[in-house]
Amino acid sequence: MTVSAMYPGTFDPITLGHEDLVRRACRLFDKVVVAIAANPGKEPMFSSEERVDLARSVLSGISNVEVCGYEGLTVDFAHEQNLQVIIRGLRAISDFEYEFQLSNMNRHLADDVETVFLTPTETYTYISSSLVREICSLGGDISEFVSPKVKAALMERCSRA
Ligand code: COA
Repeated sequence: MTVSAMYPGTFDPITLGHEDLVRRACRLFDKVVVAIAANPGKEPMFSSEERVDLARSVLSGISNVEVCGYEGLTVDFAHEQNLQVIIRGLRAISDFEYEFQLSNMNRHLADDVETVFLTPTETYTYISSSLVREICSLGGDISEFVSPKVKAALMERCSRA
């Protein structure tokens, strides 16, 4: 039996913390789909296409990963793509309450899709995409938090603002 998983999120942009989680998930599941939610409510800095392109380029070395954009419910995407598992990252206790609610709501919507939580390497527990965007926009060095391609895209975007 093959088990395929999706790792949903906004990924605005993908960070080294996300990449770490993808690598861990790829060791556990036959296929991992990094599913990039349009999430217009978050008013992302990068368009869906840009977020997908950045994630594809930094994850291109992993054979069992795919990157897709999606709109609508996460569980609907899981059903359409035949993905049995939703992966979410837990960086700190503070993530837990929101993630617990999200996973229970997803289970309520689709009882056949299980959520699995993974924790990133300790070094990445304090990274978030919004902090990285803020640091970059204020001229700080983001090299420790994102891949070089993502850094270049962020610096280009921040220089235009
Ligand atoms: N390393 C670094 N950062 C991480 C991380 C990791 N391992 N794991 C999470 N994060 C950060 C993200 O960068 C993000 O930071 P930010 O808010 O500062 O930008 C934050 O943690 C959480 O965001 P993200 O992982 O992108 O999730 P989200 O909360 O933006 O989106 C969705 C969650 C997309 C899965 C959820 O909104 C969803 O399912 N939407 C689709 C519609 C739907 O189905 N709604 C019903 C849900 S029950």
